Amino acid sequence: MTDGSEFVVVANRLPVDRVVGADGSPSWRRSPGGLVSAIAPLMRRRHGTWIGWAGSPDERLEPFEEDGMRLVPVFQSSEDVELYYEGFSNATLWPLYHDVVAPPVYDRAMWDAYVRVNERFAEVAAAVAAEGSVVWVQDYQLQLVPAMLRKLRPDLRIGFFLHIPFPPLELFWQMPWRRQILEGLLGADLVGFQLPGAAANFVRLCARLLGARNTKQDVHWDDRVVRARAFPISVDVEELHDLISQPAVRERAEEIRADLGGGTVLLGVDRLDYTKGIAQRLQAFGELLSDGDLKPGEAVFAQIATPSRERVEQYQLLRDQIEQQVGHINGEHSELGTTVIHYLHTSYDRQELAALYLAADVMVVTPLRDGMNLVAKEYVACREDLRGALVLSEFAGAAAELKRGAFQVNPYDIDGLKEALLAAIRSTPAEQARRMRVMRKRVLEHDVDRWARSFLDELERPQDPLPEEQPA
Ligand code: ADP
Ligand code: F6P
Repeated sequence: MTDGSEFVVVANRLPVDRVVGADGSPSWRRSPGGLVSAIAPLMRRRHGTWIGWAGSPDERLEPFEEDGMRLVPVFQSSEDVELYYEGFSNATLWPLYHDVVAPPVYDRAMWDAYVRVNERFAEVAAAVAAEGSVVWVQDYQLQLVPAMLRKLRPDLRIGFFLHIPFPPLELFWQMPWRRQILEGLLGADLVGFQLPGAAANFVRLCARLLGARNTKQDVHWDDRVVRARAFPISVDVEELHDLISQPAVRERAEEIRADLGGGTVLLGVDRLDYTKGIAQRLQAFGELLSDGDLKPGEAVFAQIATPSRERVEQYQLLRDQIEQQVGHINGEHSELGTTVIHYLHTSYDRQELAALYLAADVMVVTPLRDGMNLVAKEYVACREDLRGALVLSEFAGAAAELKRGAFQVNPYDIDGLKEALLAAIRSTPAEQARRMRVMRKRVLEHDVDRWARSFLDELERPQDPLPEEQPA
């Protein structure tokens, strides 16, 4: 039944990307990002296995070793990618869990594919996990896996972490398959969320929709106690420190500032996603130029937008909208040699990103809803010089930890956003240092390693007994 993995991570994607060398030969490179850096050392220590999709459809790959991790690819056909990944995961769950900022698509064929692919992930996990081992399932693409896996392997200790928001009852109720999703999650021993409010939404829904008994943070289900807790994810502070300590990265930051013309540099770094509030921040910046509060050249906006989920309709609409908006604002306000918005639809390596963070005077993070937002924390972690200002949406999970040091905004309030941008642009070095110190204290003390350890410590804590049923 098992081949002995004591620690198994199950995620939609594997933690490696395929790269093709100059001679055309393919190889694997570790994917950037905090989750991989947090979990990779644990994987090595515990002889772990990571189960996930290798990123291309219709490709059957054998398990392989990379970077000290055992990787087990899960097959996805083109139809699975279309219906499970682009469909149910990213056209249904993603918008529903982000405050329906785009209309969710409810489609039965997509749901069927979601069930089918979740089953496949659960079967692979059941086949590779050692007796009594820990399996940690990641994110909204795999919410049915905990219960499916428990059915196949009741001996396992199963954890689930949701990286995105969990919606309130009033929104979740729309979901035609709401009961199945809750039951899927309740297969876990521990369900982790970014914020306490999301954990509370989940517990409340279990009570209302399933009639589950619950105490404040626990759901009693199927003769078990399922714990719901918040574990705000964070960044790899050490990796970022190493990056910004590289002379090449510092030189590159200076070069970027010079290339941008010497004015105050505002920076946005996001996947090109409609939850990120990119249009709102550009509108506010454009209006500041129209109002004469900012002059071309006095401030410049660099917006980096990573291509994302490009076959999903709402993402295509967003790209057209943002590119039209950038063209319009640049057409109105740029001068020869002075472009007001630099828009780059591309992905960068970690060195370039770190250089951008060092080059930015104002980091603009304005999501309409975001589970956490690691970009905000990465910026703070990189500013060892205590310079720079963070404009941060109150709808980002990160606001719960950073609000005392950030310039907080409601991204729907364009006038408020304009005021916050101006305040951040005009903040003195002393004010920046005061605010940055508060934010850095939090991020440095709560890095991604602490996040992973606290989740796993809670998961491995002995199970609580089910409380006696009180007579009515
Ligand atoms: P999300 O998970 O919704 O994409 P986060 O802000 O939480 O949003 O995480 C995004 C991650 O992707 C961060 O680690 C960030 O550094 C990285 N990232 C964002 N944009 C780019 C880019 N253009 N190139 C490379 N990495 C990027
Ligand atoms: O945090 C949300 C998330 O969907 C992660 O699960 C994923 O790793 C990341 O954003 C990028 O999304 P995708 O895998 O769809 O490119």
